[in-house]
Amino acid sequence: MAEKKLPGITSQIKDKLIQQAFDRRLRQVDRRSTETSASGRSPLGRPVIPEHHYNFHLHPGYQQIRIINDGAARLGIGNPFFKQHEGIAGATTRINGQEYINYASYNYLGLSGHAEITAAAKEAIDRYGTSVSASRLVSGERPIHRQLEQALARVYGVDDAITFVSGHATNVTSIGYLFGPRDLILHDELIHNSILQGITLSGAKRLTFPHNDWAALDTMLENQRHNFERVLVVLEGIYSMDGDYPELPRFVEIKHKHKLFLMIDDAHSLGVMGKTGLGIREHFGLPGEEVDIWMGTLSKTLAGCGGYIAGEKALVEHLKFLAPGFLYSVGMPPPVAAASLAALEVLQREPERVTVLQDRGRFFLEQAKAAGIDTGTSAGLAVIPAIAGSSIRAARLSAALFKRGINVQPILYPAVPEKSPRLRFFISCQHTEAHIAETVAAVAEESEKL
Ligand SMILES: Cc1ncc(COP(=O)(O)O)c(C=O)c1O
Repeated sequence: MAEKKLPGITSQIKDKLIQQAFDRRLRQVDRRSTETSASGRSPLGRPVIPEHHYNFHLHPGYQQIRIINDGAARLGIGNPFFKQHEGIAGATTRINGQEYINYASYNYLGLSGHAEITAAAKEAIDRYGTSVSASRLVSGERPIHRQLEQALARVYGVDDAITFVSGHATNVTSIGYLFGPRDLILHDELIHNSILQGITLSGAKRLTFPHNDWAALDTMLENQRHNFERVLVVLEGIYSMDGDYPELPRFVEIKHKHKLFLMIDDAHSLGVMGKTGLGIREHFGLPGEEVDIWMGTLSKTLAGCGGYIAGEKALVEHLKFLAPGFLYSVGMPPPVAAASLAALEVLQREPERVTVLQDRGRFFLEQAKAAGIDTGTSAGLAVIPAIAGSSIRAARLSAALFKRGINVQPILYPAVPEKSPRLRFFISCQHTEAHIAETVAAVAEESEKL
C-alpha cells in the first residue's frame, strides 16, 4: 500500500480525533438500537439500554485500539507488537526464521538462557514441581523462596525482603495496601504505571513533581506535608522510558527533612548501575536504610518473573501477613525463584558482565549522539531512547530497522507524550561494538528518509 504523509499532530488534536471517531461510532450504534424502538423504550416499557453498555466490542478502550490500528494500516505501517521469538531473546534473536540484532528485551546481563541458571530452574522443578499450588502464608513455602529473599535483602543492606509473583502487582498491592485516603503520595512525572495503579488503589491524594526535580518536590512538601498523615515519595532507580536517574542523596535529604517514606523502584537499575551492579544504592554509596522501600523486579537482570520489596523487618513482615497480592495469591513457582537466585549469584560472581554492559551503553550513547540522534536525557545505562518526534515516525522507523535485521520496539503515545514517541533500545552486555555501530548507522540513515 502506498504510504501517505501526515503532518505532525499534537496529542490534544489526536485525543480529539479519536474521541470524535468514537462518538461517531456510538451515535451510529445508539441510532440502530433506538430505531428498533421509536419511543426509546423496550416493548415491555423499560428504557432501552444503549448497546455500548453491554457490548465489549464497543468499549471505549477497544474502540481506541481499533481506530489507531485502522489508521496505522491505512498509512501502511505494520503491527510492531506481539512478535514471536523462536529462541532465547538476548543480544540477538530469531523471529520468523530470521536473525535480528535485538534491543527489545530486558535481558541486560544475558542471564536468561545462561546454562547454570537454566539448570537451577530445572533442578527446582525436579525437586518441588512447577507450582507451589497455594499462597505461601497458608500453605507453606519452599526453602528457595527464603534464600532468594535473604539474598535480595543483603543486596540492599536491609533486614529482609518479600517476593511477589509479578513486578507490576508488587507495586499495586504494596502501595495500595500500605497507604490510604489520609495520606499523600508524590511521584516523579515519568513514574511507571504500576506505581500509579497502586496509588489509585490506595485512595491517597496523588501529586506529580517534574522529572528528577528534587527542589520542586521540596517546595511542594513545604506547602503540603502538614495536611496529611503519612507521605510517600516514589522514584525509579533508572527511568524505564528515558534511561536517566535521580540524584538520590538529594531525595534522601528531603525524606529526613519532611519525615516521609521514600520508595525506589529499582527495576531497571539492579544489575545495571553501581560498580558491581548492585543498583542505584551502590552508585551513590548509600546505606540501605536511607530508603524505606526498595522495590525491584526479577524480570530484568534476574532472568525470572516477579517483584520484591526489601526493607526493615516491620515492613516486610507486615506485607507478608496482610498485602492482598501476597496473602491471596500463589507463591512464586520454584523454577522462577531458583532462576533468579542463581542469576543473583552469577551477577555477584561475575561483575565483569556489569562492566561490559556499562561500556556498551556508553558506546551506544556516544555513537548515537555523534550521529545526531536525539537520545533525550539518557545516561547510557541499559536504556537508551531515540526520540522520533511522533508516533507515526517512531512506528515507521521501527519497521524500517526491522527490515534491516534490527529489532527495536517503538514506544508510542499514550505510553509517552505525543511530542516524544521513540524507539527504546535495551542494551545487553552481549551486544558487540559492531552490533551497536551497525544499528546507530541504520537509525541515522532511516531517520533521514522519513
Ligand atoms: C519501573 C518498572 N517497574 C515495574 C515494572 C513491572 O515489572 P514486571 O514487568 O516484572 O511485572 C516495570 C516493567 O517493565 C518497570 O519498568
